[in-house]
Amino acid sequence: MIDIKDILAQNPWLIEGSVAKTSASTQLDAKANLGDKKLFISEMQTAARGRFGRQYVTEQGKGIYMSLSLKPSTAIKNYTILTAAAITAAIETLTSKKPQIKWVNDIYLDNKKIAGVLVEHLLSSDYIIIGIGLNFNQINFPLDLRDKAGSLFNEETPPITRSQLIAEIWRQFYKLQADETFFDIYRAHSFILGKTVEFEEQDETIIATAVDLTENGELIVNTGGLIKVISSGEVSLKKWL
Ligand code: BTN
Repeated sequence: MIDIKDILAQNPWLIEGSVAKTSASTQLDAKANLGDKKLFISEMQTAARGRFGRQYVTEQGKGIYMSLSLKPSTAIKNYTILTAAAITAAIETLTSKKPQIKWVNDIYLDNKKIAGVLVEHLLSSDYIIIGIGLNFNQINFPLDLRDKAGSLFNEETPPITRSQLIAEIWRQFYKLQADETFFDIYRAHSFILGKTVEFEEQDETIIATAVDLTENGELIVNTGGLIKVISSGEVSLKKWL
């Protein structure tokens, strides 16, 4: 069971929080109840979605599925970067695991994706929705995902609870937005920098070296001497070597 009282007690900046037994998607819950600093958590989702509308696999009680409705600050240029940095910082604060980040929104552990961030900017409102899906101790994945998806904890009994990790993620989120070190944390965990990356652009496969990030969180790549800035909304990395 997720302890919402404890999560809110550790995050007095959150105005409201709730835990549903099941929901279609916490992104939809947040959109239906917009407001500043409102957190929606669910034990299970039946229609969870990731970036580019991709399906996100969830398992009852084995993951963290939550969305925050927030009035964004203009000082934060990229909430995906902030949120990914907060997740890695929270995991490292509470465990000895060493997560890494695959630009732009994926958290990896031992070469498998264990978490994803989905930030949605709503055109007709002042709010953004920050969605986080994290495989906590999920072991059963569909066949096609088994090589790619993993969990924070696998065979071992988790030494922490989901509530502790949720509380710490939002504590870090709050702390990092104020001190702006989140970009350095993100960069330090970003495992594609310096690597050869492959992505599709207008039906063309581009192979390049990932060089750095811009201050807006775009990826700077070098394609045979030509420097290009790629935005996460347009491409998703296919391969990295
Ligand atoms: C991704 O990997 O592309 C992002 C995954 C985001 C999944 C989370 S789970 C909570 C929230 N509800 C959703 O339907 N999506 C996000």
